[in-house]
Amino acid sequence: TPRVFSGIQPTNHLQLGNYLGAVKRFVEMQAKGVETIYCIVDLHAITTWQDPADLRHATRELAAGYIASGLDPKRSILFNQSQVPGHAQLAWIFNCVVRVGWMNRMTQFKDKAGKNAENASLGLYAYPSLMAADILLYHATHVPVGEDQKQHLELTRDIATKFNHDFGVDFFPMTEPVIEGAATRIMSLRDGSKKMSKSDPSDQSRINLTDDADMIAQKFRKARTDPEPLPDCVEGLKDRPEAKNLVNIYAALADTTPDAVVTEFAGRGFGAFKPALADLAVAKLSPIADEMKRLMAEPDEIDRILGNGAERADAIAAPILAKCYDIVGMIRSR
Ligand code: TYM
Repeated sequence: TPRVFSGIQPTNHLQLGNYLGAVKRFVEMQAKGVETIYCIVDLHAITTWQDPADLRHATRELAAGYIASGLDPKRSILFNQSQVPGHAQLAWIFNCVVRVGWMNRMTQFKDKAGKNAENASLGLYAYPSLMAADILLYHATHVPVGEDQKQHLELTRDIATKFNHDFGVDFFPMTEPVIEGAATRIMSLRDGSKKMSKSDPSDQSRINLTDDADMIAQKFRKARTDPEPLPDCVEGLKDRPEAKNLVNIYAALADTTPDAVVTEFAGRGFGAFKPALADLAVAKLSPIADEMKRLMAEPDEIDRILGNGAERADAIAAPILAKCYDIVGMIRSR
C-alpha cells in the first residue's frame, strides 16, 4: 500500500518555491486518500547554526503553514522530527551503511558548505543519511519533493539497496521520488539561473508566504524579465529563464499547464502579465497568510497538534526500527 512521506526544514519563512514545489503537492496527495506523513525536519535545520528561539518559532510557523495550506492534522500525520527518536537512531545505522565516497558526491553539501567545507558541521555532511532515515523509517513508497532533492532520493535508494544486500534481507522498499508539475524548480525573481531559496540574502528574490499583498505585487513588478512579449508556445520560452519562471509560477498557482498560460497571454508583454500574476498570487496566497497568522496566535494548540502527530508517527516507526535493530544484530532486552 502506498505511503507518502516528505519534509521541510524549519529555517526562515516558507517561500513560494517550497509552497508550489512541496506543500501544495502534499495537499494534493492528501486528497487522494492515501496515508500521508509530513515532517518538520528540525534535526536537519540545526546542521547549520539556528538560534534556539528562532528555531522554535520557525517550527511552529511551518506547522501553521502546513495547516493553513490545507493539510488536515486528522487526515495527515504532521509532526516535528526530533519528537520521534527513530529518525536519529536509524540515521546512525545508515551512517554505517553509506560510503564516504557516496557522500562526497552530494552536490547540495558542496553548495551549502561553500568554499570553507573544513568548517562545515559533520551533521551537514551526514544530512542525506538522516534524510534517507526519515523516509525509510516509515517504509515510505512515495516522496513528493522539488527537483533539488533528486540526488538525495537516489542516495536513499542506494542506501536501501546496500542495507538489504549486506544483511541478505528484503526489508527497506525502493522509494519513488515524485517530482511533478510546473513548479519542480522555481527560480529566483532576480536571477533566472538561481533557484528561489529561503536563504538567499536578497528578500526581493523570493515571495514569502508571510508577505502581504503590496509586497507580493511589488516583488513581481520588480522581477527581472526580458523585453520580449510572451510567445505563443512553451518552446518559445527556451533561453528565456526569467520569462519561463514567471509562466511556471502562474501555471502552478492556477492549477494549469505552462502551455495553457502562454496560449492565454501570447503576444502580450510583461506590463500586462506581471499584474495578472500578482493578482493571482495574492488571491491564492493571502488566505493562507491570514490563516497562518490566526494559528500562530495559539502556539499551544500548534504544539498539541505536533505532539499528537509525533505519537502517531512513532507508532508506525518504532516497530520498523525494532525490526531493523534485530536484523543488524542488536540485543534488545528491555
Ligand atoms: P527544503 O526545506 O530545502 O525544501 C522543502 C521542499 O521544497 C522544495 N523546494 C523547491 N521546489 C521548487 N522550487 C524551489 N525553488 C524550491 N525550493 C525548495 C524542496 O525540493 C523540498 O521538497 N532535505 C529536504 C528536507 C527533507 C526531506 C526529508 C524531504 C528532510 N528529510 C525526507 C523529503 C523526504 C530539504 O532541505 O528541503
